[in-house]
Amino acid sequence: MSKKVEMKDIVNLCQNRGFVYPWSEIYGWLANSWDYGPYGSLLKDNIANLWKKEFIQKRTDTMLIDASLIMNPKVWEASWHVWGFADPLMDCKECKARWRADKLIDNKIEAGESEPTNYAWDKTDSKELDKMVIDMWIECPDCKSKNFSEIKKFNLMLKTHLWVTEDSSSVAYLRPETAQGQFVDFVNVARSSRRKLPFGIAQVGKSFRNEITPGNFIFRTREFEQMEIEYFVTPGEDDEAFKMWKENSQNFFTKTIWLNEENVRFSPIKKDELPHYSKEAWDFDYLYPFGWGEIETLANRTDYDLNAHMKASKQNLSYFDAVNNKRFLPFVIEPAMGLGRITLAALCNAYTIDEENDRSYLKFEPRIAPIKVWVLPVIKKLWHLGKEIYSQLSEDFVCEYDEVWSIGKRFARMDEIWVPFCISIDSTNYDEWNVTVRFRDSMEQEIVKISELNEFIGKRIK
Ligand code: GAP
Repeated sequence: MSKKVEMKDIVNLCQNRGFVYPWSEIYGWLANSWDYGPYGSLLKDNIANLWKKEFIQKRTDTMLIDASLIMNPKVWEASWHVWGFADPLMDCKECKARWRADKLIDNKIEAGESEPTNYAWDKTDSKELDKMVIDMWIECPDCKSKNFSEIKKFNLMLKTHLWVTEDSSSVAYLRPETAQGQFVDFVNVARSSRRKLPFGIAQVGKSFRNEITPGNFIFRTREFEQMEIEYFVTPGEDDEAFKMWKENSQNFFTKTIWLNEENVRFSPIKKDELPHYSKEAWDFDYLYPFGWGEIETLANRTDYDLNAHMKASKQNLSYFDAVNNKRFLPFVIEPAMGLGRITLAALCNAYTIDEENDRSYLKFEPRIAPIKVWVLPVIKKLWHLGKEIYSQLSEDFVCEYDEVWSIGKRFARMDEIWVPFCISIDSTNYDEWNVTVRFRDSMEQEIVKISELNEFIGKRIK
């Protein structure tokens, strides 16, 4: 039986091979915080670039913006985040562990140990949750005590201060989602681009949440990147657009990023679990070594956000449909993906164990591989030829140049991160203006003219 992949194997390989490092390690690591290293940054960029290519470059109805990380604090009042973006937390008075009350209640219902229909299931009402914890005999998962503190709401937004004072008048927030940038800039984008509905406004960028339980490596972190599209449509055309984005997301995960279909699932969120702003939502999950985890939420946000910002800002955010001579607030379909979570899925998807040789590899598809070409002169003396080939290839591809160690060791290093093409240079070939290209997947080799090398490789990275 083949060995089961565990998260710790992936974390080890990622740290050893420069994909992900512990955060500020020299000052003592803050648990569950990470930095992307050289290969991790390239991998993450490749995924973000494929997303931009699929959803911006190849479409005629979407545009990219880059809004500020710190928005006007009024944005987060209008969007409900200041009041409602909070977890209900309680402490076990015996062992001092801290828990999310709604999660413990969910677990008990899911385990079939309690009847959900007995309760009006409002996860935002702390008093109601307090009562449920007692009525349902909820136990501390660690010490089994039922002695909990009162539930307190803990807002997930990270606060900072603008201007010189540090009182409540200067409080601002680091954005907890990119999406509000698209809503706030909706009128500007619609006017300046002269777009007719339907059209999408997209962003790739950092978001921040003061997660109580970050963990599972880069899966849940306090600082992360999102790739979100707000797709504005005429009300009544929203269900059709929702279907289109479901298919787009499915294709992105299985055909563009090449995640194994068996490890990706799509399922509707139950009506009573929908966020307050959405009419319909689906979760897209990946099967990580620790279990299924969400990589995207696709939501029909209706006109909730534009409506909220219109009321709060007292500005007219409606759209004028000149053909039908009508003014209205568009509905919004939102595919919201987490870049770190897709990067982790790509790492898990690529992780391959070679039991025979007691080794493991990251077997990437050429299109997401962090390094596309490895250039190595067969003997060190030929370094100047190697450097020439490197500078020719690096015009088009991310390459690595390596003249240290024996040729066997260099191949082994290259295999560990599955560099799809390796160019070895020896003087006989070079004298005839040729080099040898070795394909990692098939281990086959081909002699290629130096003048045709970039085109030869470019054709093979699709
Ligand atoms: N604008 C909607 C929104 O933000 P979400 O489901 O809260 O929806 C979208 O977030 C995606 O962002 C998630 O599916 C996940 O991939 C990613 N994400 C959310 N919180 C995260 C965290 N703490 N760490 C890493 N990724 C996160």
